[in-house]
Amino acid sequence: LRDPSFVAEMPKAKLAVIGYPIKHSASPQMHQAALDEAGIDLQYIRVEVEPGKVNECFSEMERLGFVGCNVTVPHKLEAMELCDEVTDDAQALAATNTIHFKDGKRYGHNTDGPGLAQAILEDFGKSLTELRVLILGAGGGAGRAIATQCAREGSSRIYLSNRTVEKLEPIAKSLTDDYGAKLVYTLSNDDEALTIAADRVDLIINSTSLGLKEDDPLPIPASALKSTHRVYDAIYNPAVTPLLAEANKIGATTSNGLSMLLHQGAISFAFWLGQKPSIDAMRKGLGK
Ligand code: ATR
Repeated sequence: LRDPSFVAEMPKAKLAVIGYPIKHSASPQMHQAALDEAGIDLQYIRVEVEPGKVNECFSEMERLGFVGCNVTVPHKLEAMELCDEVTDDAQALAATNTIHFKDGKRYGHNTDGPGLAQAILEDFGKSLTELRVLILGAGGGAGRAIATQCAREGSSRIYLSNRTVEKLEPIAKSLTDDYGAKLVYTLSNDDEALTIAADRVDLIINSTSLGLKEDDPLPIPASALKSTHRVYDAIYNPAVTPLLAEANKIGATTSNGLSMLLHQGAISFAFWLGQKPSIDAMRKGLGK
């Protein structure tokens, strides 16, 4: 760990999020609130770990009796390669965002996909299985997790869009070859193609970074949105992105990435501690 004396002063620190950089992670507030609510006397901390130093960090955590950690950018692949066993979810993405240290072994999991699935089910009352989906930014890290989850759940049609369309070919191939997805289409982010695809789906998910900044353009033309659409934006800050504002205006059903953040966190919590956390406490921990 970056500063062992820091941990020595925090004997209850047994969970953490590691990344580089890590200052802005919201995971500590979220998980600490759930731990406190459940009466579990442990502390969840942030640890900055340089690339290439993940093994060292894991060994130190094991020595200190850590229960586990979350793993964020850029360590998700490096962490997976250091695990003794990984779940199918982690295998599917060749990435882990959750590690559990138990009986001298390292177990890796990826809760991003299952977290999204749970968020869609709760926010829209439908499972991904029942929905035809258009994923904007499917070539990015989050988009790939979302696309893979759609394929694993058997979404009946999957449209993958990305500014850099070349990134989509290997992803589409994996959805088809590894998960048996039948109707997978790839498209660039041009207005006409997006409009045609949008007309053929029930759910539109934005996983591009467009919407993080106030003056960002929409990731899809406003005219492509219909009142029957469910529109999910993986961004949660701002809570209402320009895309969600447009979708709300025409009466579509909308939700933002806060639910995905909460549910992936809740699944990690259960993976470590064998019990479900309070989602309400986690939401309050985030100040939402
Ligand atoms: P994350 O891991 O959070 O998904 P990422 O991997 O950097 O972040 O992905 C960002 C996504 O937003 C990508 O799909 C990116 O498209 P490219 O693959 O072409 O880079 C998309 N994106 C970023 N800026 C964009 C823009 N101005 N217009 C359209 N798409 C954009």
